[in-house]
Amino acid sequence: MLANNPSKQTKHVERDFSNISKYKEKKSIRDLDVRNKQILVRVDYNVPLDEFGRITDSRRIENTLPTLNYLLDQNCSIVLISHLGRPGGKIVESLRMNPVHEKLQELFPEINILKADDCIGEEVQKLAENLKEREILLLENPRFYIEEKKNDLVFAEKLSKLADVYVDDAFATAHRKQASTHGVCAFIKEKGYGFLVEKELEFLSSCIKNPKRPFTVILGGKKVEDKLAVIKYLVDLADNIIIGGGMVFTFLLANGNQIGKSVADLSKVEVIKGLIRDDTHSTRIYVPLDVIVCDEIENPKIIKTVPIDQIGENDIGVDIGPATIVSIKNILAESKQVIWNGPMGVFEKKEFEKGTKEIAEFLVNNQIFTIIGGGDSAAAIEKFNLEDGVSFISTGGGASLEIMRGALLPAIDCLSDK
Ligand code: 3PG
Repeated sequence: MLANNPSKQTKHVERDFSNISKYKEKKSIRDLDVRNKQILVRVDYNVPLDEFGRITDSRRIENTLPTLNYLLDQNCSIVLISHLGRPGGKIVESLRMNPVHEKLQELFPEINILKADDCIGEEVQKLAENLKEREILLLENPRFYIEEKKNDLVFAEKLSKLADVYVDDAFATAHRKQASTHGVCAFIKEKGYGFLVEKELEFLSSCIKNPKRPFTVILGGKKVEDKLAVIKYLVDLADNIIIGGGMVFTFLLANGNQIGKSVADLSKVEVIKGLIRDDTHSTRIYVPLDVIVCDEIENPKIIKTVPIDQIGENDIGVDIGPATIVSIKNILAESKQVIWNGPMGVFEKKEFEKGTKEIAEFLVNNQIFTIIGGGDSAAAIEKFNLEDGVSFISTGGGASLEIMRGALLPAIDCLSDK
């Protein structure tokens, strides 16, 4: 790997951790008086579905069981609300909450779980009013209303009428300022976070605030913009930042290389130049030595490895190359803590999965303390059946990135102060 400033020691500069520690000032479910009350629980059951509408990974549902069981033990009635997919403010039949309802009933065979066909309106209000102790009502996808994404307060107030207390256990949506994650809090007095949110925030924030060193961050995926804010925050905090995945090509442009037909974000090249040329910070930022390129992604006829200074004008970059993999493994072997967000290449395709797969296997086989930051990297770990070997897999891709850039999560900020 090529590093900007390979020989420096990480400076331990003063840093403001107040945003990612703010949840400690907020009420958790334990601080709320929930006994015998009706609780609106925002969960993130945005689970992957196959072509038949069957859930292919139900961990986001299972991970909320501690919160649901706690509330059931306190004789609460529970109104559950979650989005599913991005229906764009209209009813999309394939994005109804029915598969989630089935899964919940399977997980709670003893509990009566009702499913509403809407999330607001008279019928829903009636169902909520008639809900008995230890019963659960699952609402329909709130994103069928455009008001949800707009954080519309009239809509949010209607949601708030369904319960006495609000619990947010939707870590993966905590970075979204929407009616069911944020607006609703303006109308409910008692509100706190659930056990899943607590676990995620504790784990991720402590790994950022008190990292085991050497601390290495692997950033991949396509979206350069999201990751740049993370890099800026982690500079002088992480010892190593390894760049992989689609964003490599914007970095290579900034490095003065040709990238052929690979995808890059031209608007970010100048900022990256500044980052990789800046030798006042002490974090080593690594870009690949070689990459895998092809002629076309869907049906490639040519697939080859090229050093980064020999990418041809028709080449499309799809993965990191073998020399880069060896070099990353050397860095990881020395690391005591790794946070990984974003795959190394187009891992969904067998031909281009090698970089992501080898790095994942290396981390697991060598029992390196690793946190997977949700989203596509979590999907990659599942694809290679390595979930059991990883220290922590976050349920939230975007939300965990926000923590990694030291940001305040809006859905946590609006909860009751202790
Ligand atoms: C996710 O899967 O990242 C969350 O459920 C948030 O979904 P969104 O990106 O559609 O808001």
